[in-house]
Amino acid sequence: MNNQMPEGFLWGGATAANQYEGGYLSGGKGLSTLDAITGGSHTSPRMITFRTADGEYKKVTKEQSLPEGATGYIAPELYYPSHVATDFYHHYKEDIALFAEMGFKCFRMSIVWSRICPNGMYDVNEEGLRFYDNVFDECLKYGIEPVVTINHFDTPMYLADVYDGWASRELVDFYVFFCRTVFERYKDKVRYWMTFNEINFLRSWTQIGIHSNDPATKAQAHHHLFVASARAVRLGHEINPDFKIGMMVSYIPSYPMTCRPEDVWESIEFNHEKEFFMDVQCRGEYPAYRLKMYERMGIEVRMQPEDAEILKAGAVDYVGFSYYMSTVSTADKNAEMTGGNQIMAYRNPYLKESQWGWAIDPLGLRISLNQIYDRYRLPMFIVENGFGAVDTIEDDGSIIDDYRIDYFRAHIQAVKDAVLIDGVDLIGYTPWGCIDVVSSGTGEMKKRYGFIYVDMDDTGHGTLERRRKKSFYWYKHVIETNGAEL
Ligand code: BG6
Repeated sequence: MNNQMPEGFLWGGATAANQYEGGYLSGGKGLSTLDAITGGSHTSPRMITFRTADGEYKKVTKEQSLPEGATGYIAPELYYPSHVATDFYHHYKEDIALFAEMGFKCFRMSIVWSRICPNGMYDVNEEGLRFYDNVFDECLKYGIEPVVTINHFDTPMYLADVYDGWASRELVDFYVFFCRTVFERYKDKVRYWMTFNEINFLRSWTQIGIHSNDPATKAQAHHHLFVASARAVRLGHEINPDFKIGMMVSYIPSYPMTCRPEDVWESIEFNHEKEFFMDVQCRGEYPAYRLKMYERMGIEVRMQPEDAEILKAGAVDYVGFSYYMSTVSTADKNAEMTGGNQIMAYRNPYLKESQWGWAIDPLGLRISLNQIYDRYRLPMFIVENGFGAVDTIEDDGSIIDDYRIDYFRAHIQAVKDAVLIDGVDLIGYTPWGCIDVVSSGTGEMKKRYGFIYVDMDDTGHGTLERRRKKSFYWYKHVIETNGAEL
């Protein structure tokens, strides 16, 4: 049997601006919501800061909502990881050269809305556009295809302050303008796009700028995101018919804890939560189970008469997804819990976990690929997968991250099984945080994912020097052999 991935398979790596780019006010960039979140750890959660009317700074935890009218955000004495992050802004040439050395065929990154439109509206910042021109040119110089997430968790602060973020329909037009600007500017440099990162996790002020936690506001905001995404897909195809524009979902498959029908049902409901977002973006319409749920909750989503047609015409070209872990569902609410990516998960007794409690489940990735392909028959792109771990620098300066290699070896084998045995249609694979970036969930640096180490700590101190880890050479060989040798 052929042991290699199909020709042209896009091996690469993935990052996001708010965790990697830095330069938070450089080159005319406007503030975004994520710039107001402090660092954190397991024991001290990340905080949002805001200035009260009498000039004092207060903090709210990330899960709470900000008071309306908060307009000052950055407390001078506190540390905000997005401000420097691991400074791609000043290191992009060096970093892209390292990606090229690993043999990357593609590089996933996000562009910052408020770098291009500082207040999120119709003023365009030429310097911001030029920055991404330089980045894409640098990628193309090495034959690396940029894969661009148009919006990865950040909302221009002005839109959060003035419009209550995605709760307002106005954001659809602002977002479509932003898309038009980047589609036209980069139409000969970028072919692969994704409209929103992990759309199923967009639910708080930090990510979508909404001030309320109430389910009706979230449902309305989600509807606006769907309409915006669908309009962007249609517009992108008009500007360049070769564009491939995908959705992006966090895919955490759930298994029933037992064969008890109640556990199976819990699992179906858990899975519906993400399938809802995929159904709308892949099939172009709301699924019945969600409409019924809104009806039971008394939620009436305000839709314009043309929205049904917009959603239909704006179905995506491919499914991008992140996969880190699986979970289990049970009707037994006393079952043991563990950690998870933006969820609290029940512990699966058959699986080991990372230091952050995320279940390690390579077969779950093959299962996910099969489930998604069975449901939508669309090409897929694994745009995040990886292992957050604490790395140690040895006396001789090396970093021996065998645990990370083990994780990837097993997961890439699962990918190969899905493609070569099951026949799913997969475009590419971009491991998360291919170079160390700030953790999105905890704000830590010590939770590292990269093949490349960056000297930076949890409090923002470090030289930002880059170093190749052992996994760097391992992944390079995987790419060289097109997946044949793991
Ligand atoms: C995904 C996000 O949810 O998981 C990334 O798209 C994030 O932004 C990644 O970094 C890993 O999560 P964490 O919390 O370990 O950084």
